Amino acid sequence: MFAKDIYIARRRALIGKMAATAPEGKRGIALFVGNAEAAAQYKDNAYKFRQDSSWLYYFGLDEPWMGAVIDLDSGEETLYADDVEIDDIIWMGPQPSVASKAAAVGIDRSAPYGAMTVAVTKALATGRNIHFLPPSRYFNTMKLASLTGIDEESVGKVAPIDEDGGRHASGELVKAVISMRLVKEPCEIEQLDDAGALGQEMHSVARDSIRIGIVEQDIVGKMEGVVLQKGWGVSFPTILTQHGETLHNHIHDTIIEPGKLMVIDAGAENNMHYASDFTRTYPTSGRFTSKQRDIYQIVCDCNELAFSLTRPGVAYRDIHIATARLMLERLKDLDLVRGDVDAMVAEGIAGLFQPHGLGHNMGLDVHDMEDLGENLVGYDPDQKRSEQLGLGSLRMARRLVPGNVITDEPGIYFIPALISKWKAEGTGKDFVNYAKLESYHDFGGIRLEDDVLVTADGARRTGPNRLPIQPDDVEDAMSSPAMSSPAMSSPAMSS
Ligand code: GLY
Repeated sequence: MFAKDIYIARRRALIGKMAATAPEGKRGIALFVGNAEAAAQYKDNAYKFRQDSSWLYYFGLDEPWMGAVIDLDSGEETLYADDVEIDDIIWMGPQPSVASKAAAVGIDRSAPYGAMTVAVTKALATGRNIHFLPPSRYFNTMKLASLTGIDEESVGKVAPIDEDGGRHASGELVKAVISMRLVKEPCEIEQLDDAGALGQEMHSVARDSIRIGIVEQDIVGKMEGVVLQKGWGVSFPTILTQHGETLHNHIHDTIIEPGKLMVIDAGAENNMHYASDFTRTYPTSGRFTSKQRDIYQIVCDCNELAFSLTRPGVAYRDIHIATARLMLERLKDLDLVRGDVDAMVAEGIAGLFQPHGLGHNMGLDVHDMEDLGENLVGYDPDQKRSEQLGLGSLRMARRLVPGNVITDEPGIYFIPALISKWKAEGTGKDFVNYAKLESYHDFGGIRLEDDVLVTADGARRTGPNRLPIQPDDVEDAMSSPAMSSPAMSSPAMSS
């Protein structure tokens, strides 16, 4: 955990932000429910526990079955959890008291978990606003529904409480939490660099393990072992595939063949639960063919362009569009598209090649806070999400501010089913050279991703050892694996 002052300051800041939502005495309570354990096969064999990220942010306690109420009028805070009894001690050993856990994060009141129901019932009976976040887990949906008497569907809906008395999650609380978590504090940036180091180490191990004839799963196991050794685990299910044209391919049962491109999109979650998320694409034979290199270089240049444009005040949506323009210019040089590049940008032709956005927010979640609402997190109030393929999938469009941490992940994919669909429908027929695209049907895909911190006057990449990305550097790294790996002994900070 961080020092308790961090959590105290965050909750004070949250109370300050919520003060603007209603006059004193009318603000109500903020109700937080931490995650519970979830049975994998049966109660005593649960999935590995992962705490709710907003709970971690404000309360730090990385244990199941906890709740908290912040009285937004009086400032009083209460932690709800149960002290262990002898039956628990037999299996888990002695545990610190709930009161001492509360004290560790600067809370001086605690009560049993079940007493949370009493507190919420009392607040409801006296007509107070109950602010809560939309839950990401079904248990928390049921818990919030039972605590508040709201139906399960409405528990997940976000709207301003003041509009209708609040039969849903609190738009005011969501907005306040997003405004805080979007801007990373120095202690969080340290953790993101740590998660970056771990992610870069796992990627180096993966790259050095590529061999013709082995099964992809072999590499996945090696790289995930690095993270389990030094951190909490992977920050999302690893994507490692010779079918990179499938954007999220989690199946690793294929034998590695010569001449293919292998997309590795993977990240680490460190012991403080901060994430990294990197992607590199490797020629399985160790050298790119000239056809592969041509496309690879375009993606690489888009990645570099996005980074060079990243600074406070610039909307990430505009950076997405700038990379789309560069991509189309360069695809035009290869005669894969034809015509006026501005017209192609306006028509969304880049979406045929990159049907996803340039990046997303990152922090305690690899797609930070998307449980609170993708548009609320990724879009400024005056920005509207596009309906175009590609741009419409952009998850971070906001004007950047120092402290934002985002991914920079352009890609080019040749997706036979999508190309056939566009061709059959006549989509982009004035621009796309469908005849030439025929020869790319078995090309696969390329994605290149770094994690980027927006600084006061520009940006820097997180993680100490940027993975080789220029095609010559990638080939060099693959030909001399041990020389190119970042220090395998780099310490991973922990809680
Ligand atoms: N890197 C995986 C994702 O962004 O979804």
